Amino acid sequence: MTNDNAPPDIANLETLRRTDFRTLGERIEGKVRDIYVQPERLVLVTTDRHSSFDRIVAHIPGKGEILNRTSAFWFDATRDIVRNHVIALPDPNVTVARRCTPLKIEIVMRGYLTGVTSTSIWTHYQAGRRDFGSIVLPDGMRKNQPLPAPAFTPSTKEATHDETITPAQVLERGLLPADLLEQVDDTAQKLFRRGQEIALSRGLILVDTKYEMGLDADGELTLIDEIHTPDSSRWWMADTYEARVAAGQEPDYFDKEFLRHWFVEHCDPYKDAVIPEAPQALVAELAVRYQQIFSRLTGRSLTPREKGQPILERIRDNVAAYAI
Ligand SMILES: Nc1ncnc2c1ncn2[C@@H]1O[C@H](COP(=O)(O)OP(=O)(O)OP(=O)(O)O)[C@@H](O)[C@H]1O
Ligand SMILES: [Mg+2]
Repeated sequence: MTNDNAPPDIANLETLRRTDFRTLGERIEGKVRDIYVQPERLVLVTTDRHSSFDRIVAHIPGKGEILNRTSAFWFDATRDIVRNHVIALPDPNVTVARRCTPLKIEIVMRGYLTGVTSTSIWTHYQAGRRDFGSIVLPDGMRKNQPLPAPAFTPSTKEATHDETITPAQVLERGLLPADLLEQVDDTAQKLFRRGQEIALSRGLILVDTKYEMGLDADGELTLIDEIHTPDSSRWWMADTYEARVAAGQEPDYFDKEFLRHWFVEHCDPYKDAVIPEAPQALVAELAVRYQQIFSRLTGRSLTPREKGQPILERIRDNVAAYAI
């Protein structure tokens, strides 16, 4: 990503690796979030843990706050479309959420014919597939072109790898009833269009994204987890998109692959029990990129730290009112 701001002083940023607040309820450790489970609420603390290859590979200072506040920005910007789980934002790293029953599907929305992995829509298109269940594509499309309309492509939630299925398969497998599936599809379409509009006004293209929805205590469809973050979405730069694609180049994109590449070159991140520590310069570079996309999207910057107060203390003070 090109630079918008002067690089922040990464060396002075403390990282948030882990929390353990006994007063908040049972603690569950997700890859990125520490989740405190209460009867009707979850206290979600987004840490600076960075996962790749299904493991934690680094800690990126400021990333937890950025993910949490980016979601908060989008929950607010989409509240007229669908109910969301936010009860309160007591700290830059914390969301107090209504505890919901997550739906059994991942809700993936795709705006462009792109991707590199075996499950990507471009890989399937190149192999000859045209019918994607919710959308049928014409012949002759080129990589990175917009789809005729954004496509809702649900996938299963598997422990190992998610499988893309068609809306018809969602019904056949009994994952959702038909009326709820229709509501999910309609809601995801509206969220994605809103996301694309706002992103474009900030010079970014929202390429594709993944939503999680659940049912709240009243059985109402509710948007949960995170929305339109750098981790749940793919982003391209709008100003160079046309020219680069016309010239057969890849769009400029929000790039965190360089850290993955470093690990692949220096160890076997899928097999080795212990992996080396990433160079500080790469960690700092990734932190800068997260901050740039955050300020570009939301117009905000990281919360300044109160002199000398450790981040864990700040969070502990801010969540005290949510003890059970
Ligand atoms: N309001 C909510 N109600 C119930 N569950 C929620 C809610 N919001 C988020 N979650 C769940 O909390 C977890 C968030 O933690 P984290 O993002 O660290 O998980 P993860 O290890 O990345 O797992 P996943 O790969 O499923 O995202 C997710 O499993 C998500 O489904
Ligand atoms: Mg997650």
